[in-house]
Amino acid sequence: MQLRAFADESLLMNDRFLRACRKESVDTVPVWIMRQAGRYLPEYMEVRRKHAFLELCKTPELAVQVTLQPVARLGVDAAILFSDILIPVEAMGVPLEFLEYQGPVLGKGVRDRSDVGALRIPDPDPALGFVMEAIRLLRRELAGKVPLIGFSGLPFTLASYIVEGGKSRDFARLRSLMKDDPKTFDSLMDKLAATTIAYVDAQIQAGAQAVQLFDTWAGVLEPDQYISQVLPYTSQVAEAIRKRGVPVIHFVENCLPLLPALRQLPVDVLSIDWRVPLDRAADIVGSKFVLQGNLDPEALFKSIPEVEAAAAEVLQHGRAAGGHIFNLGHGILPKTDPETARALVEAVHRLGRKG
Ligand code: CP3
Repeated sequence: MQLRAFADESLLMNDRFLRACRKESVDTVPVWIMRQAGRYLPEYMEVRRKHAFLELCKTPELAVQVTLQPVARLGVDAAILFSDILIPVEAMGVPLEFLEYQGPVLGKGVRDRSDVGALRIPDPDPALGFVMEAIRLLRRELAGKVPLIGFSGLPFTLASYIVEGGKSRDFARLRSLMKDDPKTFDSLMDKLAATTIAYVDAQIQAGAQAVQLFDTWAGVLEPDQYISQVLPYTSQVAEAIRKRGVPVIHFVENCLPLLPALRQLPVDVLSIDWRVPLDRAADIVGSKFVLQGNLDPEALFKSIPEVEAAAAEVLQHGRAAGGHIFNLGHGILPKTDPETARALVEAVHRLGRKG
């Protein structure tokens, strides 16, 4: 595996993202944008007028088309597979719909031991074969132009959708399950960890060159509870993926209270949300990790000179870290002007130049 990944990279024309993940020298700071393929792009909306979101995810040719849109328009240093963290959850046997204005809806919610017992650990081939096919096609289409990032949700964030039946503000049902029936919660986390490991493994075999793990909602937990009931599953997943020889990125929203705990994670890159300046995050986690982030997505509503000034500040703070990959502190917002996003990428490449 190690050898294969190495051979692949020697064909990359732009390898600064993968080099930065590994703390190797780079000509300038690499940049990509969370949710870089999405509703702020008119060319994405054009495709969406004809196809539902889940249809895009499940049709390799369409997923490839929208994955490539921001690569062509923005000049980012990495492509990220177009899909959703909830795709493997559907393959576990949970019904999944995306409703306009409401986001994901996942059946009645998994609540007890028998609900958890009924969940499958899907074999990614064939259950999620459309994802692997999209990855294979993407590697061919990208032809080494930029590397391809695969991704998955982590067990806690996936469990939040499965237990709550959709997005939640307070995660009351999930937190009750953790407190009142920790055995059932553990068996759900076990199944999710096994599902995630097999799914990411298949993505890497199909050609994903780095993996971002999303634990978006873990920041709602109090750190001791995170350490005892969530961190062991995250570590298990990250450890298994790292053995495959690809860089692993970890993302959690509202990460500040968890940063001391995240120092234990076997990952290469910590993606920092927009609430914590990168130098402050580096003070807590040390220079072991490359940090990714963390311009406030709201900053892209300002004028281009103001966006450049904000990017310069993030770059300055990033110098305190063990390495820096520029990104937003969370997903790009649907009302963003694509021209501003393009100007941001250009500014990062210009202002982040080394030497
Ligand atoms: O970053 C990328 O460009 C890759 C594609 C990607 C999507 N979702 C596409 C998407 C990735 C990596 C995700 C991850 C994801 N999905 C997360 C974790 C990251 C984060 O943002 O915190 C979560 C929590 C989800 C679940 C999800 N998917 C929600 C809550 C929603 C509805 C809210 C929204 O923004 O619409 C989605 C839908 C979704 N996922 C869209 C896209 C482009 C919008 C779908 C559309 O209407 O076209």
